[in-house]
Parts: sequence; structure tokens; C-alpha cells
Amino acid sequence: MFFGKKDHKDESSSTRAKVVAVINQKGGVGKTTMAFNLAHALAKGGNKVLCMDLDPQSNLTLLCGLNGCEGKNIFQLMINSIRELKPLHIPLLVSEVIKKGKVDILPAGQDLSGFELTVAGISSPRQLILSNFAKKSGMLEQYDYVIIDCPPTLGLLVVNILCLAQGVVVPFRPDDFSGKGVKQFFQVLEDVDDMGIVKAPTILAHIPNLVDGRRKQELSDLATISEELRTLGRGAKIVEPFYNRAGLVKSLSQKKSVFDYNSSEFVSLQQQFSNLSDIVEEWADGQSN
Ligand SMILES: Nc1ncnc2c1ncn2[C@@H]1O[C@H](COP(=O)(O)OP(=O)(O)O)[C@@H](O)[C@H]1O
Ligand SMILES: [Mg+2]
Repeated sequence: MFFGKKDHKDESSSTRAKVVAVINQKGGVGKTTMAFNLAHALAKGGNKVLCMDLDPQSNLTLLCGLNGCEGKNIFQLMINSIRELKPLHIPLLVSEVIKKGKVDILPAGQDLSGFELTVAGISSPRQLILSNFAKKSGMLEQYDYVIIDCPPTLGLLVVNILCLAQGVVVPFRPDDFSGKGVKQFFQVLEDVDDMGIVKAPTILAHIPNLVDGRRKQELSDLATISEELRTLGRGAKIVEPFYNRAGLVKSLSQKKSVFDYNSSEFVSLQQQFSNLSDIVEEWADGQSN
């Protein structure tokens, strides 16, 4: 059905929170790690930050110190926001689900893997479930930034995320990165634009992650990929590589951000995540003007 292209005025741009998703349809590229540390970098800069976990694997939820959120997570809140699914509603307040901390967390649960099937039969726009829920809940007025951790897919859940987020950052591993993967992702962004309801989010940065600086091949692959991304357009910035760092693995196993450490081992990691948060903040400032 043709809706007619709107002028792409994004209603969410008038809300306080800027919504940024960490996205790549591949697993193991560092999405959760980056979402967690970017959120902490933004919070350290004085921002009020909500981490929103939309991966059924719930790794960000676990990192933020929550466990066993079945039935009491973002999935149930989204279902509760759909009038047609009344029989599945369970009384639950957003404030009962969000856990407060240095950064707040809106947790995911395994039940989120049933999202696509659960909403398959509804007649209201299925791509806008997350966006409608977020706007109705009032949460976008309570935070400066909402950082979303995405599942490793390009399915309906991710389309919902792309309809809410105004910005995305894309970590990738240079070794298994393929032009095909980026093209698929860019195609989904175009599909979101073509729906004519919202503007697809801006790509704020492509981030080469888990780079092994000792392998010459990896650095030359990275140069090729960077060139390819430039050719494909969408104006995305390719930031300096995040090398493979044992310190990052240690911090995650202790459920801490890199900013929780004073040792010299963490200085360069702190610098990199601060640089990333600067990119996000500069973009956000440009949006508000
Ligand atoms: N720069 C890095 N250096 C070392 N290990 C990393 C780095 N980034 C991520 N990791 C590790 O790689 C694994 C996958 O990262 P994760 O953030 O869970 O990826 P995704 O969310 O994309 O599946 C995790 O074990 C994480 O600790
Ligand atoms: Mg993850």
C-alpha cells in the first residue's frame, strides 16, 4: 500500500532523549560491550542514561546486574501497550521494570524471542510497537540518552528499533565483515525510509572492533572495508579501531564499565569510549539546534 512520502518530520526529535542503537546483524562483534561502555561514558559526562536491552539473550541486562527478568521486562511492557492483545496483558508499571543505577536498565528476557510471532496478527503497524510504547510511557522525557542493544538479526524487532532510534553506531569485526552484510543493513535503512512514517536513523560511526594489530592482513582488510563503506555512502564516519583488549573482557566479567578502574591498563579504553561518547554528543547537540 502506498502511504505517500511524508516530509519525514520525526516526532521523536522533539523529545528530550536522543535514542542511539548499537547495531550489527552479526553476533560477537561487540554490540553489548559497546552499548554498556558508551552508556557509562555518557553518564560520566553528566547525562541521564537509560540502557534498553532488546536482545532476547539479555547480555546487557546481566551486565547491568539484573537476572531472571522473565515476565517482567520490555517484552511484556510492549505487549501491554497493544490494545488488540488485551488477553495477554499483565498489570506492570514501567517503573517496576526499570532498575536504577549509574545508568538505568530496561531489561530484556528470553520471552522477547517470541515477539515476532506474538504480534504477527495485529492490524496496527507492527514496526512502530516499540516507538509507540516508548513515547506513550513518557520515558523519553526522563533521559538525555537511551542506548539500545540490538539482537543479531535484521528482523521485525530490529525494524522496530530503527523506527525509534535517531542514531546508530555499528561495531564490526574487520576479518568477517562483508560488503554484503553492510548492503543488507543499508537496504533495511532504506526500507524504513520508504515506509514514509519515520526517517531512518543516522549512522554516527562504524567501529572496527576486536582488531588484532599484530596481523598485517587485518589492517589491510580494514583499509579495504573503510574504502568500501565510503563508496557505499550514507556519510558514516569510520572511527579508529578498537583493538582486542584483555582488560575489556576482565571488566565485563566483573560487570563493570572501563570507567570503574584507575589502573593504566584502562586509560586507552576509557579514552576510546569517551571519544565515542563525544561523537554521539556532538551529533545530539546538532540535532537540538
Ligand atoms: N575490544 C574488545 N577486546 C576484547 N574483547 C572484546 C572486545 N569487544 C568485545 N569483546 C568480547 O567479545 C565478545 C563478544 O562481544 P559482545 O559485546 O557480547 O558482542 P555482541 O553483543 O555483538 O554479540 C565478548 O566476550 C566480549 O567480552
Ligand atoms: Mg550482544
